[in-house]
Amino acid sequence: MTTLLALDGLTKRFGGLTAVNGVSFALARGEVVGLLGPNGSGKTTVLNMISGFLMPTNGAIMLNGERISGLRPNRIATKGVARTFQLVRALPSLSVEDNVIAALAFGRRRLWGAVARDEARIHIAEVGLADRARQQAGSLTYIDQKRMELARALAAEPELLLLDEWLAGLNPTELRTGIDLILSLRDRGISVLLVEHVMDAIRALCGRCIVMNAGQKIADAATADALSDPEVVRAYLGDGHA
Ligand SMILES: Nc1ncnc2c1ncn2[C@@H]1O[C@H](COP(=O)(O)OP(=O)(O)OP(=O)(O)O)[C@@H](O)[C@H]1O
Ligand SMILES: [Mg+2]
Repeated sequence: MTTLLALDGLTKRFGGLTAVNGVSFALARGEVVGLLGPNGSGKTTVLNMISGFLMPTNGAIMLNGERISGLRPNRIATKGVARTFQLVRALPSLSVEDNVIAALAFGRRRLWGAVARDEARIHIAEVGLADRARQQAGSLTYIDQKRMELARALAAEPELLLLDEWLAGLNPTELRTGIDLILSLRDRGISVLLVEHVMDAIRALCGRCIVMNAGQKIADAATADALSDPEVVRAYLGDGHA
């Protein structure tokens, strides 16, 4: 197993609040790993540091053995890290297709013109939006906006994909489709760090889970073991359940 991503003592303080406190873990190439924890435990902050949207207060992030912590988000993206946001970000007045084309134009390969359009269509079809490619992004349903976000992330041809509650709010049929889509990405060799609260999805997708509570890592184990760990149960349900 080759290490793709390694976090070493990663810490983020916001004033007096330590949102992420000395977190270390590694991701191997091709792995799909869950990053779990109760609300406010620091999961999104970890993703924000990996993708460069927040600067760590302490600690290091290595990608393929190269330090990426401290680099700007666009530099980290060109090194192969793509993400979706917990709150969808897009260019609402542009069509779905043009949103993905924009991601290709500013991505690591800087594709333009007909090449970009053809490739955008592939990613749009991949996430199940082919019949809405010409629709204005701002008029999409929430679920379809999330699909578009993923198409934009895939357009960057990432080695590492960071998903922040991408499956939240899907109905059971959509959830099945979403899970299958993530499995197909793994089969293509993309590594995924998945922040998620949907337990069925975690069980279906993640061989291993890292669990955080109050900024600290409290478990890093095979999914079934992590989910039954007394400290994890306590973190989610409170004392008295463990
Ligand atoms: N930019 C910021 N400035 C100040 N505090 C922040 C900032 N971002 C996050 N926090 C705080 O850091 C802590 C961790 O937040 P974070 O968003 O990482 O949690 P989370 O695990 O993603 O939670 P959720 O499951 O609700 O999305 C919270 O107490 C949050 O209020
Ligand atoms: Mg979050």
